[in-house]
Amino acid sequence: MSKTVRPTVRASKLLAAMSTSDKLALLTGVDTTAAPYADGGAGYAGYVPPNPRLCIPALTLNDGPAGVADGQLGTTAFPAPIAQAATWDPGLEQSLGAAIGWEAWQKGIDVLLGPNVNIARVPENGRNFEAFGEDPFLSSAMAVADIDGIQQNPVIATVKHYPVNSEETNRYSISENLDERTLREIYLPPFVAAVKDAKVGAVMCAYGLVNIVYSCQDANLMGTVLRKELRFGGIVVSDWNATRSAPASAAAGLDLVMPTSANAVTTLAAGIEAGTVTPQLIDQMVTHVLTSMFRLGLFDHPPPPRQNVYLAHVSTPADEGVALQVAEEGTVLLKNAGNTLPLHLGAHKTIAVVGAPAGAATSAFVGGGGSAYVTAPNAITPLQALTTRAAKAKDDVTYADGTDPAAAAAVAASADVAVVFAYDQEREGYDRADLELPAGQDQVIEAVAKANPHTIVVLDTGGPVLMPWLDQVAGVVEAWYPGEEDGTAIAAVLFGDAEPGGRLPQTFPTSDTALPTSSPDQWPGADDAQDAIFSEGIDVGYRWYDATKTAPLFPFGFGLSYTRFRYRHLKVKTVGSNVTVKFTVENDGRRAGTDVPQLYLDDPAAAHEPPKQLAGFQRVDLQPDETTTVMLTIPKRSFAYWNTTTHAWTVAPGLYRILVGSSSRDIRLRGFVRR
Ligand code: BGC
Repeated sequence: MSKTVRPTVRASKLLAAMSTSDKLALLTGVDTTAAPYADGGAGYAGYVPPNPRLCIPALTLNDGPAGVADGQLGTTAFPAPIAQAATWDPGLEQSLGAAIGWEAWQKGIDVLLGPNVNIARVPENGRNFEAFGEDPFLSSAMAVADIDGIQQNPVIATVKHYPVNSEETNRYSISENLDERTLREIYLPPFVAAVKDAKVGAVMCAYGLVNIVYSCQDANLMGTVLRKELRFGGIVVSDWNATRSAPASAAAGLDLVMPTSANAVTTLAAGIEAGTVTPQLIDQMVTHVLTSMFRLGLFDHPPPPRQNVYLAHVSTPADEGVALQVAEEGTVLLKNAGNTLPLHLGAHKTIAVVGAPAGAATSAFVGGGGSAYVTAPNAITPLQALTTRAAKAKDDVTYADGTDPAAAAAVAASADVAVVFAYDQEREGYDRADLELPAGQDQVIEAVAKANPHTIVVLDTGGPVLMPWLDQVAGVVEAWYPGEEDGTAIAAVLFGDAEPGGRLPQTFPTSDTALPTSSPDQWPGADDAQDAIFSEGIDVGYRWYDATKTAPLFPFGFGLSYTRFRYRHLKVKTVGSNVTVKFTVENDGRRAGTDVPQLYLDDPAAAHEPPKQLAGFQRVDLQPDETTTVMLTIPKRSFAYWNTTTHAWTVAPGLYRILVGSSSRDIRLRGFVRR
């Protein structure tokens, strides 16, 4: 990266040397079979060829959010982003981003298509696993950390899918219809943070429409908001085949039409000829692409030349360590009756392990499907890891694959404790029909629970599921899609070698109907699922449960620990326009443990905001009897609502209540501040 010449200056110098055809070639991709390292086109999502005459390197684009994907071999399968968010640990997320970026670079990939920051509005969304949950503040923090990590390498991160993509039903044609305030307060903040705080190099516009305008053709959201208001000078790339008209998209703010489009080149060239596409517009588009390439070091740090890069193993033990830590930290303990966990059986006891994901840690169980799918041939199965760990404690493990409830019950009946692994299978392109566990797994869990009172359910799911058997089991652990360290992580958590450090980044509902988007007009949408009506407005996730006083099954922010924490001594201090909140957290149990105290704001009535909104959090690790002081600064923006008269952030004068708790439904300290 040049220290002296600014990326925009370098871009403009290079631009001056480019012909129109040089320029147009930089604005769309070609078939990935042309990529030098591709094995018959496999292993890459997109490819823009180099321009050797002008020394412009190629752009190779790959997903994604859970590790370098698209069929690449030898990369780390990290836990799904929903598990990453459940860590509430931006520091660790940055390490994860840095590891993914490094692996991408080793693979000759210079544009990474992630993170996905679409807010979890609909729990049935087939891509729920692929983003950071239902809260804009938490999603922003995770996205910024991830992008910071990725872009420590000469790799461009891509925040997606702008501005909204809340379901997969009719994803190419659905119009997501929402009001200005909802867009600003709920859906845009992670994109804003990615651009402003993390200086992301690329933004991907979404497949669908927003208020009946194609996202990749939206002059207001791409042009006015992203370009003018946020001053985004990097690449706007289309989702794959999301460009309906290259000239119309170009005029609205799009730069890069992906994955391939001879038509884009022809229509842009014809537009230039006819005077409907100005040379200035083309120059602007090329400048955006080149500026990100210069700024992120693509010219100065080309990927290492190597043979057979597609086959190369680039995952390192350090990367696997990050994957393991994220899996452990993101695992959420939802129920633990009678302190059944951690397992402390004593020697010569038997653990019955049940369920397909326990026996086969294939990619299908450790990650979600679609473009974020990372192959995980070396994933460690829970059965392997639990058997090894149990042997250390001189215990035995038996196994039933869970296809037959009676067989599973028989194995469980003759064991001291039963651990049932259950799954859902989320994938891009399809929403889940409902929130039930598929394939009769509820019956298997019920049969096992009947046979053994010490039954623990481990959920390998990409989002909320219903738990009709909740009262019948002793424990529930949400392990999400845990990535390739699957077995190692869950064995460590179940045996208490690691703390189940996760907290829910998304509310779990009690039924398919007691949730914010229960009307068919909201999801999958009115007019045969062509129009998703966001009638819940800003009441997304826990905001809706609070506003409507609906009981969740498990609330946002919830997660148990193997120890207990006490919060005390809340102090709220105002220095100028900054508000800082201080309190102590004490581990008053007998084990070391992790807690994630959360700070919520309750605005004055005049702001017409939901009853509480997340405005701070901090992950803390504490030894028994240890106390720490947590200090959080409430960002100014958290005090503001989006005013649709002035089209600006506005602070409603009045009393703001400050709520500190261990989840959105367990508030332990209260203070206030006036604004
Ligand atoms: C997905 C994007 C992804 C792209 C390239 C699309 O189907 O929506 O998220 O980056 O494919 O694989």
